[in-house]
Formats: sequence, C-alpha cells, structure tokens
Amino acid sequence: MLRDGEKDTIILGNCLEVMQDFPDSCVDLVVTSPPRYFSSKTGSRYESFDEYVAAMRDVFYECIRIVKNHRYIIINVSDVFTEEKVLRRKPVVASFILFMSKMGCEYEDNIVWCRDEGVSSRLISSTPYPYYFKPVYRRESILVFRKNIPNDEKIPCPICGKMMVQRNGTSRDGVQSWECVNPDCRKSEHNRGKRFTERSVLMESAVTEENRIPEGIMNAFRTDVVDVKNIYFELSIPEFAILCYSKKGDLVFDPFFGKGDTGYAAIKSHRHYLGTEEDESVYRKAKNRMAVFGYSTPLF
Ligand SMILES: C[S@@+](CC[C@H](N)C(=O)[O-])C[C@H]1O[C@@H](n2cnc3c(N)ncnc32)[C@H](O)[C@@H]1O
Repeated sequence: MLRDGEKDTIILGNCLEVMQDFPDSCVDLVVTSPPRYFSSKTGSRYESFDEYVAAMRDVFYECIRIVKNHRYIIINVSDVFTEEKVLRRKPVVASFILFMSKMGCEYEDNIVWCRDEGVSSRLISSTPYPYYFKPVYRRESILVFRKNIPNDEKIPCPICGKMMVQRNGTSRDGVQSWECVNPDCRKSEHNRGKRFTERSVLMESAVTEENRIPEGIMNAFRTDVVDVKNIYFELSIPEFAILCYSKKGDLVFDPFFGKGDTGYAAIKSHRHYLGTEEDESVYRKAKNRMAVFGYSTPLF
C-alpha cells in the first residue's frame, strides 16, 4: 500500500507487480520513457512486437488506475526499426495512442521533437536510386493523455466549500457540471451560483503565481514539432511535462524510473516523485542521484 512516507521514493522491482499494491487515484501525474522495443534476435525480453505492446498496455492500464481523474499521463516514445524477418518500422507511437484511448484516456497531444542525430540503422544505408530511398529517423513523440472517467459524485463548491450543489448538465465528453445553491455564496450578475466541474476546480486551483510556467519552457514547447540542437534536451522533457501538467506539491510517478530524470525534474520543480526500477544497478545509481538532489529542506 502506498503511504505518505513513500513519497520521494524509488521502489526496486517490476513496475507492474509493484503497482498492484498502490491504491486507485493516488498519483497526480505519470511521466515516463518506456523501454524501447527491439527484436528477440538481439536478446529482447519480448518474443514479438505484439508481445511488447501487450506488456506496455498492461503497465499503462495500472498507471491509468492509479492516476487521479482528469490528470495526465505523459509518455515519451518513438517508432523503432527492427529486424525480425526483414528490417521494418514498428508503429510504436500509433500502438500507444490506440491502447491508451481504448482504456479511457483522452489523446490530447503528440508533441514531436527531433534528435540532433538519427538513431536508426538507416543512417548507414542511403542508396540513391528509386524504390531504395529511406529517411533517417530522428523523431520522438511526447504523447499527452488525460484520464477522463465520468464521475457524478457530488463535489463541494470551490468558493464556499459547502455541498449545497445541484446538477447543471453534463459536457459532451461526459464531465458532470454542478451549480452552487448556497444562498450565502457568491452569485453571478444573473443571480446564478458558481458553476463548476471536477475538472474546472482542478484547473482553476493551478492558476496561481507559484504555478506559473516559465516563459522559456512555454516557448520551447509551444509548437507541435520541437526542433532542438542539443541531445541533452531529453533532460528537459520531464521538466516540461511536470511544469505543464501538474502543480507544486503534486506527486509524479515514473514506472520506468531509470537513472531518474523524472525524479530530478520533480525535485527541481517542487513536486514529489515516486518511481519503480527493476534493474538493481540502475536503481542504486538513481538512489544516489536523488540523494544528491533530494530535499534538504521541507517543501512547504
Ligand atoms: C528508457 S529507460 C528510462 C529512462 C529514464 N527516463 C531515465 O531517466 O533514465 C527505461 C528503464 O525502465 C526500466 N524497466 C524496464 N522494464 C521495467 C519494468 N517492467 N519495471 C520496472 N522498470 C523497468 C529499465 O531498467 C530502464 O532503466
């Protein structure tokens, strides 16, 4: 079970197994770079691409369960080229979009960024004749998904905090809207009570000076194709995701924690982190790294 003390922690183990013990709706954001698929010929743990996609789907099914409603799951992936029978492009990005959408997430964005150098084996072959042409592949996608589960449980008015609310319709994407009917609460010029949804309450709560996104980050990612000349740009992807899709004090989870770029960005942005990593040597390196950057003073 996830307890308060387990914030700012990396758990050694297989993320799918570890997540089984987490309660529903316990994290505010998921940011991750899943392991890449490569063919079983080269020693992959997955027998086939389909097996890889099924394994990823199982992991993200759990991620959707543990993230709170209307919060985000940000996944950095790219298509890969692998040789099973022949060298073929594998539709990683499309597969993630399909399974996440089928599991109840809104597919909000695909922010593409380009590596400085190509990463595919196509780098070595460029035969200048018709039918042989193949581009060198440099793109990675930052896929942005939002959990959106219809919920018609009453929620208190964000202004007066009272449960004196009545239904005020449902949006086209199934979000229940409420109106405050407390006679003592603030009214509009047409004498209507505050109208709100679970989603609008969340969004309005983040509009504060301390949650303002720095201009540099906003500008760098304000286009859907981000061209960067610096390979270390990867470091700022989790930072961008955390600043744009969570607020200060939130808990950010990375199931594939690796050396801890998500944790580092969470600390830097005054969020809490939680991660799982199954490789013991990577886990130890990440722990040391987090200890160096960890909180030395209380956050709040
Ligand atoms: C692409 S790397 C993550 C990179 C990461 N953003 C970083 O800062 O290093 C994927 C990581 O996931 C780990 N991993 C792969 N499958 C896993 C699983 N089922 N459970 C937990 N960790 C896993 C790998 O050991 C690897 O460290």
